[in-house]
Formats: sequence, C-alpha cells, structure tokens
Amino acid sequence: MSSLPPLGLGTATSAYQVEGAVRADGRGRSVWDVFTERPGAVKDGSDGSVACDSYARVADDLALLVELGVTAYRFSVAWPRVQPAGRGQVEQRGLDHYDAMVDGLLARGIRPFPTLYHWDLPQPLEDAGGWPARETALRFADYAGIVAERLGDRVTTWATHNEPWCTAFLGYAAGVFAPGRREPGSAYAAAHHLLLSHALGREAVRAVAGAAEVGIVLNLAPVHREPDGDPAAVAHVDAVQNGLWLDPLARGTIPQTLTSPALLPGPRGVVLPGDLERVRGSADWVGVNYYTPFRVGAPTGAEAGVGQDVDAYPGAAPFAFRPRPPLTTMGWEVDPSGLLTVLERVATELPGVPLRVTENGAAFPDDVRGADGRVDDPDRIAYLQQHLAAVEQARASGLPVLDYFVWSLMDNFEWAQGYTQTFGLVSVARTTQQRTPKRSFAWYAALARGAQPLSPPASSPRTK
Ligand code: FCB
Repeated sequence: MSSLPPLGLGTATSAYQVEGAVRADGRGRSVWDVFTERPGAVKDGSDGSVACDSYARVADDLALLVELGVTAYRFSVAWPRVQPAGRGQVEQRGLDHYDAMVDGLLARGIRPFPTLYHWDLPQPLEDAGGWPARETALRFADYAGIVAERLGDRVTTWATHNEPWCTAFLGYAAGVFAPGRREPGSAYAAAHHLLLSHALGREAVRAVAGAAEVGIVLNLAPVHREPDGDPAAVAHVDAVQNGLWLDPLARGTIPQTLTSPALLPGPRGVVLPGDLERVRGSADWVGVNYYTPFRVGAPTGAEAGVGQDVDAYPGAAPFAFRPRPPLTTMGWEVDPSGLLTVLERVATELPGVPLRVTENGAAFPDDVRGADGRVDDPDRIAYLQQHLAAVEQARASGLPVLDYFVWSLMDNFEWAQGYTQTFGLVSVARTTQQRTPKRSFAWYAALARGAQPLSPPASSPRTK
C-alpha cells in the first residue's frame, strides 16, 4: 500500500471562462476575444467579455471556496493581462490581480494551482503566426518567467498548458476553437511548439523559483474500437489524443503512426535537433483532465469524411465517434472506468511522476430546483462520486494521484458552446452575477470537510 497524503480536493476554473473584464487594467486582446466575434463561432453568440465577472469578484469566489472547504483552487493566469502584446511590456496591474488572488487563497488555507496557459493567446502573437510558429514557444517561456518572478515565492505547483491537444487540433485543424484556423499541418506544428514551450516554460519558472514543480495538463482518453471501426483510425486517434503528448514527455519520441511532414525531419519539419531531448522528462507532474472515453466506428452517410471529429485528427482514415448512453448535455459518454484506465496509462509511461486529476465534471440540464431555489443535480453528484471512486481505486493500487479538481467551481463560458453548458457546483445568474450553490456543492463540501488538509508540498513524492 502506498503512503500517499490524503487526496487534495479542489475546484477549477480558467481566466477567459470566468474573469470577464476584458478591457480592465490594460489587458490586451486574446485570440478568444477575436474568435468570439466571428459569426457562428459560439453556439449562443456569446463571449467571455463579462462571464462570471470574477476579475472584480475575487472576494465572492474566495468566500465560495471557503464555504466549500476545498484545499486547493486551480485557476489560470491570462497572458494578455500580464503582457498585453504577448512580448515585451509587462502590465503590473495584471500581475497584481493574481498576486492578490494567491495571497487571498493562502490566507484561507487553500493551495493555489495556477495554469499559465488556458487558451488565451495574446492576439499579436497569433498575428505573428500563433502556435505553429516557433517564436510563440520562446515568448511563452519569457511570460512564464515573468509570472514566476512575481508569484514563485508562494506558488510551488504550476501547470504550463491546459489541454494542448485542444489548442493545436481544435484551434488549428478543426477550427472550432480560437484562432479558428483549418490547417492540418499547422496543428502538428502547434502541438510540437506547445510541448517545447512547456519544457522551456518549466526551465524559466525553475530559474526563478528553484523548488517549483511544473507540470502539464493533458486531456487524455481511452480510445476504443467499435465493431465496425477501422483499426488504423483507432490507432491514429489514440496517437493524436494520447501518444503525441505522452511519448515525447516519457521517451522523447513521436508516435510512428503520425506522419505529418511537420513532425518529420526535413525542410517542412518543425522538430529541431535537441527539442525532444528537452521535452523528455520535463513534466514534474502530469495533470489529467478526464471527461469521457472515445469509441471509434465507421462513418455512415452524412458523417463520412466531414465534421469536427475527422477534422480534429488530421490524417486519420474516415471514422465517427459513437458515444454510448448515458450522455451529458455535451454529448459525452459517462464512463468512470475510463479515468482509471487513463491514470494507469500515465503511471505506466511516466513511472513515479505525481498525477493530479486537474479536471473532471459534467454538464447536465440543471432544470430541477428545490423549494429553496437551488439546482437539484443528483446526476452531477453521481458522476463526481463515481469518478472519485475511480481515483480512490487508482490510489489504492499505488498510483500517485495527489489531487482532484472538479470542473467547475461555477457555471461559466463554455468556449464554442457559450453559456449553454453548465458544469458548475454553483449557478451564476447571468444578469446579476448572483452565485447560488447547487445541491452538488453541499455534497462536495461535506466530502471536503471530511478530508484532511493536504500535507505541505515538500512532502510530495519527488521523482527526479
Ligand atoms: C475542458 C477545458 C475546460 C472546460 C471543460 C469542460 O476541455 O479545459 O476549460 O471547458 O473542458
């Protein structure tokens, strides 16, 4: 049996999804500000310009976290608040905001888990080429160092990227996320530069905050073959979703099934000598965001060769995802066993590296309210309970899973789905910003209050 500290329980949000205040304190424009202006880009035509107004309501959000009794809060730092142009000039007011947030959390006994990049690239860097350009990785390292200079005396656990698969493949191949480009080759280049920037960003953070543990957050998923699914498509989807991130981090290699010219040696390639050596071993910890498994079947009729699924895995033989009920309102299959599978895979590929479930949660209709007006959400409670049981199983078998974060503290701007999807433990009235805890909040609070506080970070298992 393992001697793991008690599981840390927290909640997660990200800057663009909750902060609003997009013009406050010198903030620059991000790719999401620009993308959401595109007609049809967001389901309900909304954007994150107001969101949950969390930039101005830090005190309210902290009070919710205290009421919840969590030991940890995962939030993201908005690069365009810190460097409005993505390079050069540093906006102190942006840094002040996160500085105060970190102090506010620590004063309440809550560990801050900042993520440096949750998809809000400063638009000027996108104009200069975005993630398919190597330059962006270098600028990210500068930015990481700037934030660490300011917060690194108090923050010990950092994440560089959130779900780089989404940035690369939804942003640059399928074009359904910012910046909305549909260039398959660029997506592979972006993927490499995101990983490279993780390694460079970690070096920059550790240069100013030596004891920092710098991880990366990946959205990994088990990829299953349906009876009519093409094994080659299954292998390709698995390579893009999982192997493209884990192989370089674990072994400094790229899955052989991926033959994009961008990843191959040669003039059109972006992987320069030394890059993969730098990426190998660069995750001090790995964050797993898990929501659903994928089932790959043969496309039928209108699905053939079109649509987001195929576009987001460029180079795959035609396929369609076939989620099995029960589904959340995102259309995502509920399968808690997939979380255990994913944790086991990471632990096998990166033995001894601490793991965290950095996001897990579900969107449901939330249309039933109790007499007190609170959302009564037994489906969400069941979802969280089942997935926490998978985490406990993983820990019981010795996997070093240290923390678990519910996505999300509150209903927020769900990217291309706008405000149509609710993942929160707290509902937010869009007109008044009033926050009302759901029944799942009370359930999670009871759990968190029963849990021990986390041991100090120094006692986390070190791997290197
Ligand atoms: C993840 C994102 C997060 C949120 C959840 C539902 O892919 O990291 O911001 O949108 O999905």
